[in-house]
Amino acid sequence: MSNFIVKSQKQYQELYKASKENPEKFWEDFAEQEFIWYKKWDKVLDYSLSPNPDELDIRWFEGAQLNITENCIDRHLATKGEQTAIIFEANDPNEKPLHITYNELAKNVNKTANMLKANGAKKGDRICLYMPMTPELAYAVLACARIGSVHSVVFAGFSAKSLSDRIMDAKCNVLITADGGYRGSKITPLKEIADEALMSCDCVDKVIVLNRTNSKIAMEYGRDVWWQDEFAKASDICPAEVMDAEDMLFILYTSGSTGKPKGMVHTCGGYMVYANYSFRNVFQYEDGDIYWCTADIGWITGHSYILYGPLSAGATTVMFEGVPSYPDMGRFWEIVAKHKVNIFYTAPTAIRSLAMCDIDMVIKHDLSSLKTLGTVGEPINLEAWEWYDQHIGKSNCPIVDTWWQTETGGIMISSLAGVTKDIPTYATLPLPGIQPCLMDESSHEITQADAEGRLCIKHPWPSMARTIYGDHQRYADTYFSSFTGMYFTGDGAKRDAKGNYRITGRVDDIVIVSGHNLGTAEIENVINEHPNVAESAVVGYPHAVKGNSIYAFITLRGNSLEESVAREIKELVAKTLGPICKPEKIQITTGLPKTRSGKIMRRILRKVAAGEFENLGDVSTLLNPECVEDVIKGRV
Ligand code: WTA
Repeated sequence: MSNFIVKSQKQYQELYKASKENPEKFWEDFAEQEFIWYKKWDKVLDYSLSPNPDELDIRWFEGAQLNITENCIDRHLATKGEQTAIIFEANDPNEKPLHITYNELAKNVNKTANMLKANGAKKGDRICLYMPMTPELAYAVLACARIGSVHSVVFAGFSAKSLSDRIMDAKCNVLITADGGYRGSKITPLKEIADEALMSCDCVDKVIVLNRTNSKIAMEYGRDVWWQDEFAKASDICPAEVMDAEDMLFILYTSGSTGKPKGMVHTCGGYMVYANYSFRNVFQYEDGDIYWCTADIGWITGHSYILYGPLSAGATTVMFEGVPSYPDMGRFWEIVAKHKVNIFYTAPTAIRSLAMCDIDMVIKHDLSSLKTLGTVGEPINLEAWEWYDQHIGKSNCPIVDTWWQTETGGIMISSLAGVTKDIPTYATLPLPGIQPCLMDESSHEITQADAEGRLCIKHPWPSMARTIYGDHQRYADTYFSSFTGMYFTGDGAKRDAKGNYRITGRVDDIVIVSGHNLGTAEIENVINEHPNVAESAVVGYPHAVKGNSIYAFITLRGNSLEESVAREIKELVAKTLGPICKPEKIQITTGLPKTRSGKIMRRILRKVAAGEFENLGDVSTLLNPECVEDVIKGRV
């Protein structure tokens, strides 16, 4: 058994201390013991967390060579070849689930890798995956890693515009998609959306199309090929490409405070080390456990905790194609009972919506297999935590509230299931190897324990993003310019006297709606494209199920028709960015409160949207104080 997997409070303290005193030795020892490296590193860590992009640089295990798929697949074959690696549960509960063994996974990933090669994918190329949650998505991700291509998974709920922006930003030459994707009672026309996206991309030469829904689609001769045809032709032997530890493994886009999404870059060695380390420590996975993370592979949670973390640990991981509400609101619990899930990891927004249903939806399913629960993506409120604990965990399962980000690659602050104490609504303590701190607004570290401030991380950790693809300046500006020599998370947090962290939410212009990060600037840019819109300001406001929802304040040009404008704007945003970005409320107003330098005071608008009209602060210094009253009166 690894001495890096914490089994007691005391060991937690000891490991934490050791990791802080000598982080390089800590990570070196773990990396050495736990993985297959073709060649060891020359240096464990080389870094500068400078705000100057010419200096900002983070390298872990430089000089080492590896392939992450060797560690996620091949090395398990001798002992676990016939163990299930992936349980696939289809959208339709009547479709037979698949139990894919590690031997089968190896063959299928190799075939997919050879199929990619035959269609022009090479080491270093960026491959876009716009796919439903079927096993082929897992094969495609791992196949890219196998041949050294960089995967860029785009969530299959995104629009054509979002897809084409991401394809062009990463200059992908191959796109893998499907004819359609099942989501509850609907089919998302993925190929049709992809075709529209590709009209504005000149970099994609090949489109590989999985037939999933038998939808009628157009295939472009010379460009489009069917997955099933190409896969059938491919050999199931494909040696893993030798990768340097700092070679790119994947790009994953996340929303930013300014309009454009950020392509976060993760590299092979450090990401593998931390995905494995955090998975095993947080969930305390034991051989034979059935583990289910309900996220989509289109988000970082799916990358790290459906695929790379669990597979590198030789676990059995469940992949679910559908949605929690289909065919009824008991689907999650039905799946837990059907596959005897032991570890269940989901988002607070899902918990809140399921908690609103008739409790019979839960009671009728046997949840006795569960031993650990987890949450991720946003702060969990006490009511939701208690419901989850009582009705799902039967007051008998630890709940790990895991705080982390696309940028951090893996879980940073969380209790370790059954080992360190969980506290409702607190992410609790950092994992050994992670050094969080709180900073005040004048850039001083707050050293007393019991405090509130901006959450930063002091020392590099192996899975931190290395850059924003194509924009190192923005990487430096966003994460390393606010507080010298440390990583700024964009989140606010409280810390109690015992050092437990409670994340209070974003302190920037990102709103988390149903666990999805949305940049308000990106939404404003779209709204402003409407011919009748003069100006807009988008803010988040608290929502009982979604955590937050989007509220748009809009001023119009001339005398446009208000009602139709609001409807058109909702449609425009849904079409351009995807339905999850659609404003729930739109208020047409005569003016937006501004500073004397003309900057919109979003702070005031956030309060109005939330219905908090007191403490608006001193509005007399505004350029146009008179508009505040109108804004309040017009609240929708
Ligand atoms: C928020 C998701 C409170 C936070 C893995 C962070 C959380 C953003 C938690 C990253 C949590 C994530 N408690 N807030 N347990 N987990 N967040 O990149 O604001 O999609 O900055 O990564 O989600 O979202 P992302």
